[in-house]
Amino acid sequence: MFKDKVVLITGSTQGIGKRTAWLLAQQGAIIIINSRSSEKVEKTVAEFTDYGFHVMGISGDVSDYNFCVELRNQIILRYGKIDILICNAAMAVEGTIAESSANAIAQATRINVHGSIYPAIALMDDLTATKGSVLFMSSIAGIVGLPGFAMYSCTKKAILAVAESMKNEVVDRGVFIGVCLPDFTENEDSKQIISTNGELKTIAKRSGIKTVSLDRTALCIIKQLNTKRFLYFTSWRGRFLYYLNRFFPAFLLFVLKMNRKRFMKLGGKPQ
Ligand SMILES: NC(=O)c1ccc[n+]([C@@H]2O[C@H](COP(=O)([O-])OP(=O)(O)OC[C@H]3O[C@@H](n4cnc5c(N)ncnc54)[C@H](OP(=O)(O)O)[C@@H]3O)[C@@H](O)[C@H]2O)c1
Repeated sequence: MFKDKVVLITGSTQGIGKRTAWLLAQQGAIIIINSRSSEKVEKTVAEFTDYGFHVMGISGDVSDYNFCVELRNQIILRYGKIDILICNAAMAVEGTIAESSANAIAQATRINVHGSIYPAIALMDDLTATKGSVLFMSSIAGIVGLPGFAMYSCTKKAILAVAESMKNEVVDRGVFIGVCLPDFTENEDSKQIISTNGELKTIAKRSGIKTVSLDRTALCIIKQLNTKRFLYFTSWRGRFLYYLNRFFPAFLLFVLKMNRKRFMKLGGKPQ
């Protein structure tokens, strides 16, 4: 299914993006590794190459449209096509909305929203040529605004809306659009988040909530690409939350209100 497919995964030097890249490379895909840090890209490319995987590294910021055009040009120059784009690069955001600075709000929007849309539009004609796939990464926080996760929820809901529009806009081009909504997933020690003042900071491994493994999340992404389902959840909790929000939205908001302190502790600014 993935043999010799050219796959770009944005933000693939760690976490979900890297694990998905690894599993797809094992199935014979040609992987384009990307993230802002050229050091991390080089290190990841070396790791993959050591295993005999076919990879190319292109470092740069996907929230910069000009870089996305450059990214597209380099892929087409080298491989002549692109089959799958996984818009994975994004960052968690710390704090309640009242604690967030204008800078943090702008950063979150730029990285999580612009950074998902720009690669998709830069590559859309090439994806049309291969009748390829675009997979956006939303989150269970994109189903409903979670207390303590306001800006993250805002950006992840925006991704869902963009994908819903795009799905029908490109249907005649034969391009598959999907949105994955992962549950809280185990994070790497190197995970960074946007802090309330807009600067990036490294966070510790998550505690206080059950997380889904990176392997399970990556396998769900691959299953979604195989089955071409528009929405995909990585846990029963995500699916349950989605249907609860759809059929009983007032009840869900009540449940979140009752659990607000727990959520705000989880996503909020450490005191
Ligand atoms: N982990 C979770 O619990 C969870 C749950 C639901 C949804 N998700 C979504 O799943 C995706 C991956 O999450 P994760 O936890 O695996 O992320 P992560 O560990 O924080 O890794 C993010 C990756 O994206 C890169 N990146 C960030 N901004 C970038 C930019 N502007 N341009 C290019 N690369 C950029 C980072 O590398 P550099 O710093 O070198 O750029 C890194 O490789 C995200 O969309 C996230 O919102 C995650």
